[in-house]
Amino acid sequence: MLPYKNLLFIDKSSHVAVFKQIAAQLIKLIQEGKLLPGTGIPSTRSLAFDLDLHRKTAVAAYELLIAEDWIISVPRKGYLVSPQLPVVKPRSFNTNRKAAYETEPGFQFDQLQDIISPLSNVLKTDLVIDDGFPDISLLPAGAMSNLYKRALDEHALKSMASGWDMKGSPDFRTALCGFLNQTRGLDIRMENLLTTRGAQMAIFVAASLIIKPGDKVIVSEPSYFFANTIFEHFGAELIRVPVDDHGMCTDTLEDLLSKHRVKLLYVIPHHHHPTTVTMSKERRTHLLRLIKAYQLAVIEDDYDYDFQFQYDPYLPLASGDHEGNIIYIGSLTKVLGTPFRLGYMVAPEKFIHAAAKKRMLIDLRGDVFTEQVVSGLVENGDLTRLIQKANKLYRGRCHHLSDILSSELGDALKFTRPGGGMALWLKFKADLPLAKVIGKAAPMGLKFTGSVYAEGSRAKYNALRFGFASQEEKQLEQAVEILRLSINKLR
Ligand SMILES: Cc1ncc(COP(=O)(O)O)c(C=O)c1O
Repeated sequence: MLPYKNLLFIDKSSHVAVFKQIAAQLIKLIQEGKLLPGTGIPSTRSLAFDLDLHRKTAVAAYELLIAEDWIISVPRKGYLVSPQLPVVKPRSFNTNRKAAYETEPGFQFDQLQDIISPLSNVLKTDLVIDDGFPDISLLPAGAMSNLYKRALDEHALKSMASGWDMKGSPDFRTALCGFLNQTRGLDIRMENLLTTRGAQMAIFVAASLIIKPGDKVIVSEPSYFFANTIFEHFGAELIRVPVDDHGMCTDTLEDLLSKHRVKLLYVIPHHHHPTTVTMSKERRTHLLRLIKAYQLAVIEDDYDYDFQFQYDPYLPLASGDHEGNIIYIGSLTKVLGTPFRLGYMVAPEKFIHAAAKKRMLIDLRGDVFTEQVVSGLVENGDLTRLIQKANKLYRGRCHHLSDILSSELGDALKFTRPGGGMALWLKFKADLPLAKVIGKAAPMGLKFTGSVYAEGSRAKYNALRFGFASQEEKQLEQAVEILRLSINKLR
C-alpha cells in the first residue's frame, strides 16, 4: 500500500472542498502511473484515519471517483483503481493549480514574425477565394485509391520500410525524372533530384545551405512572401528588383550585381507570384548571361509550370545554359491539391547530396508512402491526363473570370490575362489598399486566402490576387459581384 499519509496533502485554507482535493490528488497518482489499473486503494475508514478526516469526507471523495470511473467498488475486495480508466479529464476538479502548458515557458525562444491567417472566422456560407490553388475535384480518385491499396500491400510496405533513400523514394524520383525531362526540357538523372514536402521545403533547404547572416539576396518586388520570409529567417538582407510586364527587370539586376556581392537570386519566371507575369525571352537570355558572368546561385521557383494555356510555353531557365548555378524548384501540390505535400529540387548532384542531408534533419525519411502512390500516377499516365484536363478547365475559368471582371469592374481594375497559372493579378485603379477591400468583402461573405493575404497589415499591395482554378464559373461570378460591391463602398 502506498504511504497515502505522505502522498495526499490537505490545504484547509483552500476554497476547494477537502473531498475534491483528495479526489484530484488520487487521480493524479493514477495518471502518473503510481496507482495502476486494478490496484487496491485504502478503505474510506482507513483513509480518513490516516488523514485525520471525518469518514464522510473520504466517502464523498470516493463517490466522486466512482462517478467519474476512476475507481470501482468490488464486494469483499474493497476499492480498486478502475481496470478501464476514463478518458483523462484533468481539469474537472479545480485544484487552483494551472495546467503546465497554460503557463509561459521560462526559456527564451524565437517567436517569429506574425503570419496572419485571414481564414480564422470562415462561415459555412462564405465563399473563399484563394490566390491560386488547384481544383481538387479533378483528382483521379479511383486510380489513386487503387494505388493506395497497392501501396498498403504487405510486400510494398516492407520494401518501402527497408528501401529508404535519403533523397526520396527511388521509384518516385525515377518516374519524376522522366516526367521533368519530357515536360521541361531538363536533362537530369535521378541523382539530380531531391523530393521535399512541397516547394516551400525545397526553398527552405536550398536557402539554408547558401545564406549566412548578412548575405545579400536579390528578390523581385513584389515577390512570394513566404520565400522572402525564409531568406530573412536566415539573416539575409533583401535587395528588391522591380517586376514589369516582361518579368524581373534584368537591367536593374545587372546594375546591382556590379555594385554588390550577391549571394543568391530568387526568381519566378513563369506566372510570377504575385503578379502572374511571365518573363520575356529577351530577359531570360539576359538573365542566363548574368548568371554565368557572376557565377550567381539562383533559385528558380517554377511552382505552377504545368499550367500553360498556350501551345508554345517557354521552357524553364534551368533547361538553358547556366553552368549548374540554377537550383530548380517545383511542386506537385499545385497539380494534385493542397492536401498533398509534394515538391522537388533539381540541382547538381553535389548540391542535392548536401540538401538531402539537410532535409534529413527536418524530415528524416520524407513522405515515402505518398511518393510511392504518386509515382504510380506518373507511370500510368494519370498525372499527365490530370494536367491536360486541368489546363482545359482552368483556361476556361481564366477567360470567364477575365470577361466578367472587364464588364463588371473594368473601370476600377486593370489586369493582363496570363497565359497560364491559376490566378489573376488585379490592380486597383484608385488607391484601394488590399486590406481595406478584404475588410469590406468579408461581412458580405467573401473571404480571401493564400500567401498574399497572409502578410496582413504588412501587405502594401494596391492589388488583389484572385485564384480562378479552384472555383466553378458560378462561384467566380458571385465573388466578382461581392468584390464590385466592396470596391464601390470604398470609392
Ligand atoms: C511562388 C510559390 N512558390 C512556392 C510555393 C510553395 O508551394 P508548395 O505548396 O508546393 O510548398 C507557393 C505556394 O503557393 C508559391 O505560390
